Amino acid sequence: LFGLPEQAAHERVLLATDPATGLKAILAVHSTARGPAFGGCRLWHYDTELAALNDALRLSQGMSLKNALADLPFGGGKAVILKPQGDFDRPALFAAFGRAVQSLNGAYITAEDVGTTTADMRGMQAHTPFVSGIPREGAFGGDPSPKTAWGVFVSIRAGVRLVLGRDSLDGVRVALQGLGAVGWHLAEFLHQAGAQLVVADVDATKVERAVAQLGAQAVPVGEILNADVDVLAPCALGASLNEQTVPAIRARLIAGAANNQLATPADGDALQRRGICYLPDYLVNAGGIISVAREYRGEGEETAVMAEVGRIAERVEELLQRVQVADSTPARVADDWARSKLVRMV
Ligand code: NAI
Repeated sequence: LFGLPEQAAHERVLLATDPATGLKAILAVHSTARGPAFGGCRLWHYDTELAALNDALRLSQGMSLKNALADLPFGGGKAVILKPQGDFDRPALFAAFGRAVQSLNGAYITAEDVGTTTADMRGMQAHTPFVSGIPREGAFGGDPSPKTAWGVFVSIRAGVRLVLGRDSLDGVRVALQGLGAVGWHLAEFLHQAGAQLVVADVDATKVERAVAQLGAQAVPVGEILNADVDVLAPCALGASLNEQTVPAIRARLIAGAANNQLATPADGDALQRRGICYLPDYLVNAGGIISVAREYRGEGEETAVMAEVGRIAERVEELLQRVQVADSTPARVADDWARSKLVRMV
């Protein structure tokens, strides 16, 4: 069903509607084995309700694997709000969404994702405590995107060393698909480390900024995946690695922020056959959830969280060792590794 692997069984899926505000949302709780399901809320235009459901189910399953591999005491969940047509009252929409989150009594904790902001999360606080990713007075919190970008950056650095055999990012060519909240921070980290950037975004102003400020080379959106680079970092939306795109990819290492980059598990196998190392999205992009989880628990401060996110590089190293032993692909090994951690915590 919905292109999900057989073992994907969601504990609970809530369809929340509120005619007064136009809210139509799907809140998917994949697993609470490790703790309350934690994962962001996406506001997006979907062509069909089935497409929205499919996204929510796939994303929430990915959160279970992500939170498990990051050793967080949380399960996996995700919400999608179907973007209302035309003008809508945004605070009212998120108030209604906050009430829907509250109705799950803490089984699901929300935060930002594509299309939602720290202001949306702050607005929800009046309706539910089960929300994170909010700048807080005198306490750690806020936008998880820079932390996500840091996790992707340290993963790329580890991958460049272990897969490409280069000790530094100096002169390494990296293609960035998407210069949004995560992609832009990642571009800055890479630029500071001496990487040469090749970028594309559907938003021309972001591309112009990267060219002007980071010396990036711009390529058309349709050419970024087969740019002549060492590393490819997909930081836009999911399923960018598919039957059509994989045969033309020239990078030898793929590590990016976008969730669900592989359209199907077979695409991971195809990458491996082409000698391309794909670092699984949910392993490398866990920085954001590590940040909002720390915030939610009222723990941490900036330096400690950045250090914890930095340890994603150690997991990349461990994954690549496991891949050699298992003679399998990074995607399949990471799936097995994460699933082995989907157990109840005391
Ligand atoms: P965003 O919406 O700020 O950025 C996405 C960017 O991709 C935008 O600039 C958009 O114009 C661009 N884009 C869209 N379609 C494109 C295409 N076909 N080609 C090139 N560019 C395109 O989103 P954000 O927060 O940066 O997230 C990016 C990805 O990372 C998403 O898949 C998200 O689910 C994932 N992610 C984000 C986290 C976070 O902390 N924000 C955490 C973990 C994953």
